[in-house]
Amino acid sequence: MSETDAGHTPVLLSQVLAGLNIRASGTYLDATFGRGGHAGAILQNLIANGRLLCLDRDSEAIADASARFASDPRVTVFLAPFSSLAQCADQVEPGLKFDGILFDLGVSSPQLDDATRGFSFMQDGPLDMRMTRGSGISAADVVNGAPLNELIRIFREYGEERLAPRIARAIVKDREAQPFERTLQLAEMIARVAHSREQHKHPATRVFQALRIHVNRELAELEAGLDAALARLAPHGRLAVISFHSLEDRMVKQFMRRHSSADSMYAGLPDIPVHARPKLKLAGKAVQAEETETSLNPRARSARLRVAERLTYGKAA
Ligand SMILES: C[S@@+](CC[C@H](N)C(=O)[O-])C[C@H]1O[C@@H](n2cnc3c(N)ncnc32)[C@H](O)[C@@H]1O
Repeated sequence: MSETDAGHTPVLLSQVLAGLNIRASGTYLDATFGRGGHAGAILQNLIANGRLLCLDRDSEAIADASARFASDPRVTVFLAPFSSLAQCADQVEPGLKFDGILFDLGVSSPQLDDATRGFSFMQDGPLDMRMTRGSGISAADVVNGAPLNELIRIFREYGEERLAPRIARAIVKDREAQPFERTLQLAEMIARVAHSREQHKHPATRVFQALRIHVNRELAELEAGLDAALARLAPHGRLAVISFHSLEDRMVKQFMRRHSSADSMYAGLPDIPVHARPKLKLAGKAVQAEETETSLNPRARSARLRVAERLTYGKAA
C-alpha cells in the first residue's frame, strides 16, 4: 500500500530526510508516527543495525505501526505522548540518544477524516477531539462546562480568534437551552454569529483549532517534548520539527533560537563555561513546501519545517 492509500501523505518528505541527515546505522525517533509516512522513509535509509523508535499518543496510529513493523527488529513502537520520550528511550536502552528526532505536529489525515473523532467542522460527529481516545476531557466538556472568560481565553490564546468574546458569549447563551454535543451543531452556530475575514476559511476554523490545542494540551506537550528531545540528541544529532500554525512555529523558532546562542549572562566574556554555550546550531532557515507539493497535498500549504543540530563540547554540555 502506498502512503497515500494508507491515509496520510507525509509533508516535506525529502526536506525532512535531508534535514535529519540520516546515517544508515544511526538511531532515530519519530515522535509523531501518524500513519508512518516519514517513519517508513527513514527506515528505508537505515541498514540492519540502524534503529527507529516510533511514538504516537493515538492507539490507532500505534496499531498501524505495530502491524506494519512488528517483524522489523530495527523498530520499536510506543503508545505514549512525546513528552515522555526519554522514558520510552530508556526502555530500549538506558540513556539512549538519537542521531535524529522528528516531530510532525498536529493531527493526521485519518484523525481528521474520521468523523467519530470530532476534529472536523466539515463532518458531523461527537464533539470530542481527544487524540488519545477516552482520555482526559473532551471538547464538549470544555464547550459546555468552561466559564465565559475561560472560553474567551482559549479561543484567543490558542485560536488567535479576534471574535473570541462574541463566539464565547453565543456558546454560553445557547448551551443553557441545549448542550453542544455534535461538531456541526457548534460549527453552524459559529457560522451564524461570526464571519471569517479570511477567504476560503470556515468561520469555525480557529475555534476548532483552539479547542483541539486545549483538549490535548498541545503547547505544554510541545514544550516538554522539545526539552526532552534536546537532552536526548547525540552529538551532531538533528532535531526536525514540522508545525502547521503560527503558535507552534513561534514556540519552535524561539526554542531553537534560545538554544543556539550562548547564555546572555556571559555576553562579552572571553571564556564561556560549557553549560552556558549554545547547545544547538540552526541548520538553515524555515522550509515551506513547493507548489508541486501543495498542489497535490493542500495540507502542506501551512507546513513549516525547522531543523537544528546538537552541538557538544568535550564530555559535558
Ligand atoms: C501530522 S500527524 C503525523 C504524520 C506522520 N508524520 C506521517 O507521515 O504519517 C501527527 C501525529 O502526531 C500525533 N501526536 C500529536 N501530538 C502528540 C503528542 N504530544 N505525543 C505523541 N503523539 C502526538 C497525532 O496523534 C498524529 O498521529
